[in-house]
Amino acid sequence: MEYVIEMLNIRKEFPGIVANDNITLQVKKGEIHALLGENGAGKSTLMNVLFGLYQPEKGQIKVKGQEVKITDPNVANRFGIGMVHQHFMLVQNFTVTENIILGSEPTKGGKINIAEAAKTIEELSKRYGLSVDPYAKIEDISVGMQQRVEILKTLYRGADILIFDEPTAALTPQEITELIQILKRLIEEGKSIILITHKLKEIMAVCDRCTVIRKGVGIGTVTVADTNPDELAALMVGREVHFKTEKSDARPAENVLVVQNLTVEDSRGVKAVNELNLTVRAGEIVGIAGVDGNGQTELIEAITGLRKIKSGSIQLKGEELTAIPTRKITESGVGHIPQDRHKHGLVLDYTIGENIALQTYYQQPYAKSGILNYKKIYEKAKALIKEFDVRTPSEYTPARALSGGNQQKAIIAREVDRSPDLLIAAQPTRGLDVGAIEFIHSKLVEERDKGKAVLLVSLELDEVMNLSDRIAVIYEGKIVDIVDPKETNEQELGLLMAGGKREKVGGMS
Ligand SMILES: Nc1ncnc2c1ncn2[C@@H]1O[C@H](COP(=O)(O)OP(=O)(O)OP(=O)(O)O)[C@@H](O)[C@H]1O
Ligand SMILES: [Mg+2]
Repeated sequence: MEYVIEMLNIRKEFPGIVANDNITLQVKKGEIHALLGENGAGKSTLMNVLFGLYQPEKGQIKVKGQEVKITDPNVANRFGIGMVHQHFMLVQNFTVTENIILGSEPTKGGKINIAEAAKTIEELSKRYGLSVDPYAKIEDISVGMQQRVEILKTLYRGADILIFDEPTAALTPQEITELIQILKRLIEEGKSIILITHKLKEIMAVCDRCTVIRKGVGIGTVTVADTNPDELAALMVGREVHFKTEKSDARPAENVLVVQNLTVEDSRGVKAVNELNLTVRAGEIVGIAGVDGNGQTELIEAITGLRKIKSGSIQLKGEELTAIPTRKITESGVGHIPQDRHKHGLVLDYTIGENIALQTYYQQPYAKSGILNYKKIYEKAKALIKEFDVRTPSEYTPARALSGGNQQKAIIAREVDRSPDLLIAAQPTRGLDVGAIEFIHSKLVEERDKGKAVLLVSLELDEVMNLSDRIAVIYEGKIVDIVDPKETNEQELGLLMAGGKREKVGGMS
């Protein structure tokens, strides 16, 4: 018995689309098996079938050689299958232990035995190197820690086959390194893992084999040691992908965004942005590099009007932004690709067409005398869906039904199409496949070359290095240095981001 999981010739349809068409996935015991494919290729769908959330129209599933019917997630649990979803499903004001035992509480004389559960959790946490405090409340712990709680939840239920759906998309680089260690530890303890990720580096670093799907169809399975990132990218996209963005030197012109002595407090009243100064000119991309939590989020929220400032000034083309309402900020020429697409980017129950019109629906030609012109709204949406390759059955599909990466592409289409004077792109390619990243990067450079100012905030150093004309390093709420990407490297940047100093300090303009 070689395989722990066999999904044979699986077919799963949704209205208007075949998400999985005759896909086969075979996972060996003790391996980390990558599942790779473009946004909307059908990866999450296939895993939801394995976890019993969807029933396939056709195909066969075998667990450890036995053919099974996985009718719901409880059945999946019984077969030893656990899943860590991309969007966690934890109760915020419950403790770690309460969350983990939810639905399978141990009882003693009719009472829930929390202490015993906590002890088991502590033991599991130790054994797998998870360092989770069983009594901590979810709302008080980091995203990386919450993910470990999700992992513990599956281990507590005895899972030995673990599915991870894009576990690194929401993590900081430091947390990713830790997660990779945890994955290795799980394998050492005899588990088998299916890993969905768009980051080819991660596949190369930890996976044994990789199954590629393209537009719902299985392309094949390769041994990772025998392949390379270029080949993997070509397999999934069906063409060659350029990892390095082609761009000419920037020709910066007048100041578009001028931030002076800006101080902003976070939700707990702590100074997150502290006397910060920053300028972005027309025709350049300024990338902000920093360890997560050094004021990036509050800075963007202040510029876009989502958060009140404490003191200082933010000017757009000479006009003070801090005193005007959010919609006026948008109208005066600020575009925003938000880092949390569900919270600030989309209304999930609106159609994709309505979402694309969110910033403009009340203007001509989309509305006249207060009446919406749906024909115009959907015509526009249709054109943008095509241009930005948003994979959706139609412009009338609710945003919720799109794959994560395609939701992101729809937001980018909306914001880039307005061609704002200042485009703020926060983690713009989070969850996107390599082909889509290449396209979005070229779009941002195109905006720059039209003479727009682009402010990029990203935790991916690769992305900051690749796209920026100048890199502003943020540390403890201040811009501590401005560096030329051509004259620096990831090591030096990492050092600066940790509060270190350069020998030769560049001029701040
Ligand atoms: N609940 C649903 N209802 C209707 N269509 C759906 C539903 N879930 C997924 N789809 C469609 O099925 C296709 C595959 O989506 P899936 O979420 O599996 O993609 P994915 O490979 O996980 O992509 P990503 O990398 O962007 O997460 C997409 O076209 C998507 O729009
Ligand atoms: Mg997915």
